[in-house]
Amino acid sequence: MKLIIANWKSNHNLNSTQNWFESFASLVQQKGLLQDSAAEVVISPPYPVLSIARHLIKALGFSRVQLGTQGLSQFGSGAYTGAVAAENLEGLGLEYCLVGHSERRRFFAETDEVVAQKVEQAIQHNLTPVLCLDKSTIGSQADYIDESYYSKLVTAFEPTEAIGSGHNAEASEVETAVHQIKQVYGDVPVLYGGSVNAENIEQYLEVCSGVLVGGASLKASSFVDLIEVVERPDRQN
Ligand code: PGA
Repeated sequence: MKLIIANWKSNHNLNSTQNWFESFASLVQQKGLLQDSAAEVVISPPYPVLSIARHLIKALGFSRVQLGTQGLSQFGSGAYTGAVAAENLEGLGLEYCLVGHSERRRFFAETDEVVAQKVEQAIQHNLTPVLCLDKSTIGSQADYIDESYYSKLVTAFEPTEAIGSGHNAEASEVETAVHQIKQVYGDVPVLYGGSVNAENIEQYLEVCSGVLVGGASLKASSFVDLIEVVERPDRQN
């Protein structure tokens, strides 16, 4: 089974989220997708639409679609204006939480230490952290995370230069990174993220446990195209 995680980043509002799910539902139904166990799909929308997304996933009857959050606060609930604590997310039916994305590290100055605190918050609140790593953080990040948490991680190899650039990584580079990540964190699932689309996804499915998708998840149609490749009968594993 492959994990396909959509990361909408700071895109979509109430109306466009509703439209996205409606069009997603009709395409999935038309193409007969998400019936078997080839793909597990996770949608990670911005915080303000998590609740409507949860409602839509239920109302549209998707059993193989999960909800994820793009992040959480490194602190618990309390006096942290503007932060979204794990406790604030309870009841939304979330399964996954992105942590350590390079955009968080770059634009919000998140360090390995802060990322590790977020991993801890996620795990303590029954969320699976999807720990994003590039070449430079595979080793450094591990130093800050309690080893007892390693087996609870899903990881994603995300070379910074491949994100949002249209320059997806070579499969051989990804394969090497998968090997390195497993050497450090044990036999954890490793996803690949960075300009994944329906034309290039197949090579990553050969070497990874799934993909983390930004740009190609913003339209329901291009996201469904990815699921279609994952579920193609000739490549199921
Ligand atoms: P992209 O984003 O697919 O737009 O490159 C991937 C990511 O940031 O996880």
